[in-house]
Amino acid sequence: MNANNAKRKTILPLHIDTTSFTGGQTQNSVWRRLNKRQLPIFVLLTILFFSLFLNVIQHNRRNAPTFQVLNSHDALPPIPLTEYHHAIVVAGHAIYTGPDDRQQLTDDRNWILEPYQQGGQVNTFIQHIQKGIDVLKQDKESVLIFSGGETRPKAGPRSEAFSYWSIAQSLVHQDDSISAEIKASINQRMITEEYAKDSHENLLFSICRFSEMTGNYPNQISVVGFEFKRKRFEDIHRYSIGYPAEQFHYIGIDPTSEDPARAEGELNNSVRPFEKDLYGCHGTLKQKKMNRNPFRRRHPYAASCPILAPLLNYCPSNNALYHGPLPWTF
Ligand SMILES: *[C@@H]1O[C@H](CO)[C@@H](O)[C@H](O)[C@H]1NC(C)=O
Repeated sequence: MNANNAKRKTILPLHIDTTSFTGGQTQNSVWRRLNKRQLPIFVLLTILFFSLFLNVIQHNRRNAPTFQVLNSHDALPPIPLTEYHHAIVVAGHAIYTGPDDRQQLTDDRNWILEPYQQGGQVNTFIQHIQKGIDVLKQDKESVLIFSGGETRPKAGPRSEAFSYWSIAQSLVHQDDSISAEIKASINQRMITEEYAKDSHENLLFSICRFSEMTGNYPNQISVVGFEFKRKRFEDIHRYSIGYPAEQFHYIGIDPTSEDPARAEGELNNSVRPFEKDLYGCHGTLKQKKMNRNPFRRRHPYAASCPILAPLLNYCPSNNALYHGPLPWTF
């Protein structure tokens, strides 16, 4: 009996333990046990779950921009213009809003013009378009890109590029020197780049647009524009994107009217600012692009030309030249 009692007494503490689930006072002893024995494990588990949770969040964050940038769900038809290697770029300067009628093209009232463009420049714009078509006719491996965005509030959401393209359509249509077959080929090789807001973007965006439609980066680029902008295109815009000088051709056509302030204005308002800001992403050049973007358009080229994304997004504070990988320096 004594032995039995002794056994019961030793069991007793275990029974007390089971009452601790209901007893208010004995809960303290559970916490005390947890504190003493399990708290380190509890703390470690908490840290583990918290760091797993953070990992999941960071992983999602890292993936999110990739999905947004690549638009991978947005299927595209096959590339239409393979086997083309020469990009001809006609840079837009204004927007034509008139009818599809050759007599009307040279009327200033059918264009949205800056004050300094009135009285003569419109003829030069048409010469630029015609020159682009002439080069296109000469080289069967070329694609003609009209470049320029929806830059003028008064023109509504019409792009410079589209208005130039529509003029090109009527110039080709009315050209009696070429067969219907050649006209069809030419029409197929004329495309638009509808986001550029300055000359730097005319060049860079057109290269990506060329790649969107051909699957290639051009091994030859011809830019048609004003002769007084030649130095800027050759020495600044071409240089800033590291495109080889020997593969770059500039075709300049100036207005016939003399304007003594033209060269100085180009130097003051464009050459000097771009020399100090090669990528046009600071100060006055940045502001100019904002003023030319009344419809708040943003280009899609970082998604369609991912290899150019670092260059498209490049904006150094010290005006350093871009040294990242480029598809034309491989
Ligand atoms: C160019 O800048 C110089 C010096 O700042 C100034 O005297 C001249 O009037 C400017 N010319 C034009 C056409 O803006």
